[in-house]
Amino acid sequence: MINGSTVMVTGASSGLGEAFARALAPRVRKLILVARREDRLVELRAELMAAHGTLEEVRVCRVDLSDVNERERLVEEEAGSVDVLVNNAGLGDYGDFSGSEWTRTSAMLEVNIAAVTRLAHGVLPGMRARGAGVILNVSSLAGEIFIPDFAVYAASKAYVTRFSEALRIEVRGDGVRVVAVCPGPVRTEFGAVARRGEHGRSERPLYGLLYATPEEVVAAALAAVEAGRAQVFPTWRVAWLAAGLQWLPAWGRRLALSRRPRRVEGND
Ligand SMILES: NC(=O)c1ccc[n+]([C@@H]2O[C@H](COP(=O)([O-])OP(=O)(O)OC[C@H]3O[C@@H](n4cnc5c(N)ncnc54)[C@H](OP(=O)(O)O)[C@@H]3O)[C@@H](O)[C@H]2O)c1
Repeated sequence: MINGSTVMVTGASSGLGEAFARALAPRVRKLILVARREDRLVELRAELMAAHGTLEEVRVCRVDLSDVNERERLVEEEAGSVDVLVNNAGLGDYGDFSGSEWTRTSAMLEVNIAAVTRLAHGVLPGMRARGAGVILNVSSLAGEIFIPDFAVYAASKAYVTRFSEALRIEVRGDGVRVVAVCPGPVRTEFGAVARRGEHGRSERPLYGLLYATPEEVVAAALAAVEAGRAQVFPTWRVAWLAAGLQWLPAWGRRLALSRRPRRVEGND
């Protein structure tokens, strides 16, 4: 399914996307790397081409996925040949909704929801015609719950998870697998991008236990593809927490989340 294929990875300039590209490079024929920071993608291309003789081509696509025109151009030029889509690019924004900058919130909706949906729509005709394909949507543990001061991000990931589940049922008869990977916290550039101010947030001791490495997340995601699973929570600790959240009644969730320390100015 993955071996010898053409793979598009969005958000390949850092974090999970870069780790997906590194893990897939020895197995695939062609990689299409998408992000805004072209210099990083060019560097990654040189490294991967030098290291993997079986990799025939690495295409670098400098695309701002929050821009509808750039997104459409990417779909037009590249989507038809994609066998495996890793819909990974995404961003968060820590802080209250009413105090958020609209341009940032809007970009989050465009990248986390619209781009994920548009790219899936763009690659599906080719995959269905070939009778095979994989759409791996990077969602989040945050999508299992509502999170004050992270409201839009958590809701955007709830969309990604629910969309993936429904799409999986629609296209499984066409040989296309759809998987939602739902990591807990991972040390990438995500936190720095999501923070509004200069302030760091001290890590709560129990939260620290949930961290996975990008490599663990990628390995779990690719294993879930091979196994034909619908959803995966990388690392058993995150899987247990997700199971607990799913069993918690709505009033329990509201109580727990309303007592969570707020992210306010100076305490983000
Ligand atoms: N880290 C975590 O704790 C965590 C947990 C659960 C889920 N996730 C999810 O994992 C995915 C990857 O995040 P990460 O942790 O690897 O964070 P990251 O290191 O900040 O990487 C985010 C990637 O998305 C790309 N991106 C952001 N805005 C973009 C835009 N407008 N156009 C094109 N590309 C854009 C960035 O590339 P450029 O800036 O170069 O454009 C970058 O390559 C996201 O969907 C995130 O929601 C992360």
